[in-house]
Amino acid sequence: MNTDARAQTVNLGAGPSMLPTDVLMEAAQGIIDYGGAGIGVTELSHRSSTFKNLIMQAENDLRTLLDIPSEYAILFLQGGGTEQFSATLLNMLAAHASKHNGQGGAPPVDYVVSGSWSGKAYKEARRLYEPVRQVVDLRKNIGDATQPIPAPSTWNLSSVDENPAMLYYCDNETIDGFEFTQDFIQQLPEEYRQRVPIVADCSSNILSRPVDIRSHAVVFFGAQKNVGPSGVTIVIVRRDLVVDPDAVQQSYYPRIPTTMVYKNAMDNGSLYNTPPIFPIYVSGLGFRKLVEEGGVARAQERAHARAKLVYDKLEQHPDVFKPTVAHADFRSQMNLTFRILDANTREPSESEEARFVKLCEENKVVQVKGHRSVGGIRISLYNASTLEMAQKVVSLMDQFIKE
Ligand SMILES: Cc1ncc(COP(=O)(O)O)c(C=O)c1O
Repeated sequence: MNTDARAQTVNLGAGPSMLPTDVLMEAAQGIIDYGGAGIGVTELSHRSSTFKNLIMQAENDLRTLLDIPSEYAILFLQGGGTEQFSATLLNMLAAHASKHNGQGGAPPVDYVVSGSWSGKAYKEARRLYEPVRQVVDLRKNIGDATQPIPAPSTWNLSSVDENPAMLYYCDNETIDGFEFTQDFIQQLPEEYRQRVPIVADCSSNILSRPVDIRSHAVVFFGAQKNVGPSGVTIVIVRRDLVVDPDAVQQSYYPRIPTTMVYKNAMDNGSLYNTPPIFPIYVSGLGFRKLVEEGGVARAQERAHARAKLVYDKLEQHPDVFKPTVAHADFRSQMNLTFRILDANTREPSESEEARFVKLCEENKVVQVKGHRSVGGIRISLYNASTLEMAQKVVSLMDQFIKE
């Protein structure tokens, strides 16, 4: 197989994003003939023992990587992160109704809005249910150095006496380049943390740093950034919160479509219906590789080293580059977003940004344009990227400044 062009290209797309070449080479072989079985992985029955072993191995490796205790189930689902915007809400409402035996009426659900993706999840919650409470909106603070990121103790949380059904947040905002500092969310008031199920969208930073699974009810992520190809969404959920929604159905929230019911997936080992075989397979290869390479702690060190190179360069040239996240501690280690300023006006300049994107493309550094909704530049340095790739970006930033 010819990998020459690939070897010369630095793909910094935000997702679907680059995957390790050795993983893809193994997957290519697996598509043709999986383990000498004479048939490819995408041609296997999902009921075969071969596939069941494959998914079990993927699950075990993920458990090791994230230190996931046995009280948590791991579900391999479809529908993307977007489906989880609805599924997390509905399943947590069912868990709440079950726990409270249908007493007490519709509970509040709390949402932390820190950027585009949590904003979308909040919007979906409001479409499906009320009362939905936005406990804080950090979007106005992110780009403004004079507006600190308020501590969770100051957020407008529902009172624990109201028995909120969940608190939702997004750990890393892929579009806005905002990432909560590790364990920031643990600063929630003690009683609130003990009593309210906490749901995290970790789609774009999973496996780049440890997550304290035990302090969450649900951690979910789509595969297509730090894990594998698009098509599988992984949900880690505390088993005691997984209930039969039809046994406790209340009129204040909609019935849950069958494929979104966590209990169906949990009771059937993610094989309630045909699962996304190929992305599960490739994700599993990625998990194995990460285990062999030293796990999440090592991935975190590598991510930090890569991101530091680029952020240091931004800091050195405030006349040219402006990070979109003003608060250094909250800058994403995965999605590094910044604007390029006009030399005269010192305002963000789309034409300068286009010039930088062009320079990158001429040097085979691709997919660095910011998300269409916010513009600017976005350098995504996920686990599959290397220090050399970050060095190449920095050398292009230097070249851009000189020119
Ligand atoms: C943090 C985050 N959450 C959710 C999503 C939505 O995922 P999907 O497109 O798989 O529905 C994305 C997609 O980029 C994301 O970055």
